[in-house]
Amino acid sequence: MAFDFIKRIFNPDKVNIELKEIQSLILRSRPIPYFGTVALLEITDKESAKKMLKDLIPLIDSAEEWNKNEGASVFLTFTYKGLEKIGVPKESLDSFPESFKEGMAKRSSYLYDIGVNDPKNWQKEFKNPNIHIAAAVISNNEADWKSKLEEFRTKISENNGVEVLVSEDFGATEEVKNVFGFRDGISNPEVEGSGIDVPQGFDRPIAAGEFILGYPGEGDITKPFPQPDILGKNGSFMIFRKYQSQVAEFNQFIKDNSSSPEEGELLAAKMVGRWRSGAPLVLSPEKDDKELGENPEKNNNFSFKNDEFGKKCPFSSHIRRMNPRDSKTFVLEDERLHRIIRRSVTFGDIVPPEVTKNDGKERGQYFMGISANAMGTLEFLQKQWINDGNSQNLGSEKDPMVGLQDQNSLFSMPADPLIKRYRGLQTYNIVKGGEYCFIPSLSALKWISELN
Ligand code: HEM
Repeated sequence: MAFDFIKRIFNPDKVNIELKEIQSLILRSRPIPYFGTVALLEITDKESAKKMLKDLIPLIDSAEEWNKNEGASVFLTFTYKGLEKIGVPKESLDSFPESFKEGMAKRSSYLYDIGVNDPKNWQKEFKNPNIHIAAAVISNNEADWKSKLEEFRTKISENNGVEVLVSEDFGATEEVKNVFGFRDGISNPEVEGSGIDVPQGFDRPIAAGEFILGYPGEGDITKPFPQPDILGKNGSFMIFRKYQSQVAEFNQFIKDNSSSPEEGELLAAKMVGRWRSGAPLVLSPEKDDKELGENPEKNNNFSFKNDEFGKKCPFSSHIRRMNPRDSKTFVLEDERLHRIIRRSVTFGDIVPPEVTKNDGKERGQYFMGISANAMGTLEFLQKQWINDGNSQNLGSEKDPMVGLQDQNSLFSMPADPLIKRYRGLQTYNIVKGGEYCFIPSLSALKWISELN
């Protein structure tokens, strides 16, 4: 059986969640190509910030017709401190999860954010304890991005109630490659009741409550959500994390461990689980296949059933760790409960494989992961599937792309006749900052903007 599906067909008869209430980011795919800006804001004056919010609401699209993905859209989220600062009443604040209240930096021990990833080493702006709002403008074309961004900035400056702490651009071309030169944003879970029409033979979507607050999740249970209903329902949580990518160091590792460019490309693909084009190793184990990588009907239509020993796609590869699909795991886990909707975006330029000297430029990824339990999911993934090998019987081996490596670093690649083991990996994506964010519904934004 295949998993996931990328050709996203909208069938209005299959809608049973309130799409008009849900911010578009949650259900809409990242556009191809994409242009955008992320902004972090500090609320300096509560009343002006509420007025600003009221003015910004018309710029925020709902998830209605999430398959129509043209032009620019804005999304807006609050940190716990932001909700507090804008005047959300105490009894509502108390109904939020503890991890969200503490914020990402204070959760570092739960996230294994130590060493280079320790919050004390984060970018200055992310060390600011007053990040209140995280927002972004994203578009499939440059002109719409610029004009929406201008509108967004005007509403902010007119109201004078916030200070812009960070405003950074991101983007990718038609090939949607990250700075390592790998296509990304391919595999995402689908939400039941969103209107997604699943082709025969594909895995079923995941219950809405796993991603959107106020609905039953897998197991048919509606988990508690922030109160009152108008504030919590149709909202979600988002992990926002800025990564600085060390591509030259990654290229050096590949060069040091291969005797030809072809061998190097294979090793790089084995670490990710896909070739640069996006073609999955399970479907094309020997060489890259551009047509397959770009074909949305094929590039995510695979399972690990026929790769029992990981000889095509290593157990330790980034994608097999992050979504083991039907792999045998060595710890009882239901992988459907650890999925996350990724809307991550790339910033900075791509570094070609032959470059092995770090030019010191900023480049990497804003990781944006959405789930009704985003904090719990990230804390689980960081501790178990990224920075530990136990679930795949790999000892203390870590994710080769996003793991925090140390002197014992190891990447194992099942091969014939013997498993190959590589040492000397570095941390190729360093955390530069981040926050836990709440994505209010459109009614919740209005409710917040009208608080007394
Ligand atoms: C800068 C850091 C990262 C880079 C460069 C990166 C790169 C990639 C690439 C190239 C893919 C394969 C294409 C795709 O399906 O999108 C992928 C998939 C994925 N990544 Fe990452 N990633 C990063 C961080 C993370 C983090 C922090 C998480 C989770 C906390 C994560 C979770 C996933 C998941 C769930 C998939 C899809 C797996 C599947 O369903 O097959 N990634 N990533």
